[in-house]
Amino acid sequence: MKNPGKYLLLLDPVDEILTLQETALSCFYGGEVLSQNHSSGIEELIRKKGHPEMIIADSKLAAILNHENIPYPIIATSLVPEEGLMDKFPGITAIVEKPISGSSFTYLVKSLTTIPHSEPTHVPVKISTLVRLGTGHFDLYLKLSETNYVKILHQGEPFSEADAKKLTDKKIYALYIRIEDSKNFISILEKGFGSSDGSLEEISFTIENLEAFEQIAKAMHWSPSIMASAQKSVGQAVKILSKNPNILAVLKKRLSNPSSEYSRHIGLLTYLVCAFSSSIGQVGESGQIKLALAALIHDVAVDDYYYENIKEWNKRAADPTDKSAETIKYRLHPFEASKLIRTLDSISPDVEQIVVQHHEEKYGSGFPRGLDSGRIGHLPALFIIVEDFVEFIDNGENIETSITDFITWGNAWYDTGHFKKIFQAFIENLKT
Ligand SMILES: [Fe+2]
Ligand SMILES: [Fe+2]
Repeated sequence: MKNPGKYLLLLDPVDEILTLQETALSCFYGGEVLSQNHSSGIEELIRKKGHPEMIIADSKLAAILNHENIPYPIIATSLVPEEGLMDKFPGITAIVEKPISGSSFTYLVKSLTTIPHSEPTHVPVKISTLVRLGTGHFDLYLKLSETNYVKILHQGEPFSEADAKKLTDKKIYALYIRIEDSKNFISILEKGFGSSDGSLEEISFTIENLEAFEQIAKAMHWSPSIMASAQKSVGQAVKILSKNPNILAVLKKRLSNPSSEYSRHIGLLTYLVCAFSSSIGQVGESGQIKLALAALIHDVAVDDYYYENIKEWNKRAADPTDKSAETIKYRLHPFEASKLIRTLDSISPDVEQIVVQHHEEKYGSGFPRGLDSGRIGHLPALFIIVEDFVEFIDNGENIETSITDFITWGNAWYDTGHFKKIFQAFIENLKT
């Protein structure tokens, strides 16, 4: 049980810092934790609730506080050493430099507070933080009572804004991670500071790709909301990958030449799978993010020289009598990519399934496993359809005729399993 009446107040303009501090406190602090990213309303809060055990505030916000006769410690946190701050504001007990690590923060608070520590089994994480991280790095639980938690999201599943809305509509503003996971969670938050330069975004996709995507979108009559939803999902996928240094380095290298066949294909496909799935309405935001992740990774094991002649290699790989070393290597590229995915943090197994099945075909005529359509999953089938679509676009004279040809061909070809359902939804959508 939380100790009634006792509370700590955290003030910092940066939400990521507040999250780190709150999470560290939730692991042991027996009172309530209040936080805000601005200083307004504090005096009123203190008048209503009584004074906090301690305030931990960014130095600029700490300077605004009323410093007369304060019966509790104020810790100012600062990015740069600020001399003279304590002389100017005698109410300030200490200044610590930011970013403060989770463990030193814990030590600091433990040494300055007196209330009994709590031993929670689960630690809250705000819904807004989960949206910001874009994925559940750990299993996420819903709190039913002080002692009862139920798992509602598995590690690695994307956490989308739609998921968040469903919860906040029910007035649920936090989910919980297990206390065992809190240490790793805090280290992920710590790593988050200043790592934005390691992101993929700057090399994301060339203008050329976006132009191609926009032309296709226009010809398909996709609405601005479909485009926005696709863009958002791609952004989330990039964010998730950016937190995995291993794959980030590989992808950056592979996509370093924005005009290569490889970069062009990956960029266009990533946007298209998202917009296509958004337009047919069978796949929510989390499915779109999985598709985008798969698009970014699916051919990571295919060398550029294969890409120059990719159609030829696809034909050879689908011919089981071709046992040359080069063909075998190409045939196994979906396995290679899926092996890589298994080494990554927070990537759903669904992404691996899409990647490993992306060259399968309905009669078992694909590779590497020769699955028939009954064994090809929903998201993989959707991915395969969009890959086929991209091939029509690449080979056609112009976008309009490519789309017409794709529809004619698809009507005849996609006649079983998920393929049929997805393609029918796509056709239905075109009519409206
Ligand atoms: Fe491939
Ligand atoms: Fe592909």
